[in-house]
Amino acid sequence: MAQQIATNITWHEGHVSRTAREALLKQKGVTVWLTGLPSSGKSTIGFTLEHELIQRGRLAYVLDGDNIRHGLNKNLGFSAADRTENIRRIGEVAKLFTDAGLITITSFISPYRTDRDAVRANMKPGEFIEVFINTPITVCEQRDPKGLYKKARAGELKGFTGVDDPYEAPLHPEITIAADQLNPQQAARQLLDYLLKAGVIPA
Ligand code: ADX
Repeated sequence: MAQQIATNITWHEGHVSRTAREALLKQKGVTVWLTGLPSSGKSTIGFTLEHELIQRGRLAYVLDGDNIRHGLNKNLGFSAADRTENIRRIGEVAKLFTDAGLITITSFISPYRTDRDAVRANMKPGEFIEVFINTPITVCEQRDPKGLYKKARAGELKGFTGVDDPYEAPLHPEITIAADQLNPQQAARQLLDYLLKAGVIPA
C-alpha cells in the first residue's frame, strides 16, 4: 500500500458537546486501560466489569486484543513495530469512544511503556486510567488457556510476550490488581469502586 500523507484536511466541529453526551448518559467518558502478561486475566476482568456497568445502567464497551486482531488490526503481527501500531490505533479508537461518553475498557498486553504513555498523552488528564493486571508469570503459565506458553517454551512460537519478548510493567498505574489473589468479580469490584470515587459514574 503506497504511503501518502493526507493534506488539505480541516477539523470540523459538531453541534453536540461532550458535556451534552455525558449528561445524556449520566457518566463521564473514560478509558480503563488494562495491561498485563498473556493469560493474566485482562479480558475476563474487562468483560466482567463491562457486564457489571451495563447492569448498573451505564454504557461500557470492551475493546479486546484478540477480537480487534480479527478485524481492524488483522493486518498486524507481533513485531515491535506492529505491536506499537496496534496500540496506537486502539489508543485512537479509545479516544473517540471516550469522547463519545463511553466507559471504554481496553484489554491488550500493550507491553511497551512508551506506547501506553503515548496513549495517555493523547488524552485529557483523568481520562486515561491505567490498570496493571499484576499476575505472576508462573500463574499465567499455569493457566495458559490457549496453550501459547507451552508452544513458546517448546520453541514453536517465537517472540511470545513473557517468554522471549519483553513486558514492561507500568511504573505509576492508577490501579494495580493482584489478579492471582482475586476472582474476576472482586477485581471488577475494585475497578468499579475507583470509577465511583472518581465520579465517573454516579453512586
Ligand atoms: S499486543 O502485544 O499487541 O498488545 P494483543 O493484546 O493485541 O498484543 O494480542 C495478544 C494476543 O495475541 C494474546 O492473547 C495471544 O492470544 C495472541 N498472540 C499470538 N502470538 C503472540 C505473541 N507472539 N505474543 C503475545 N501474544 C500473542
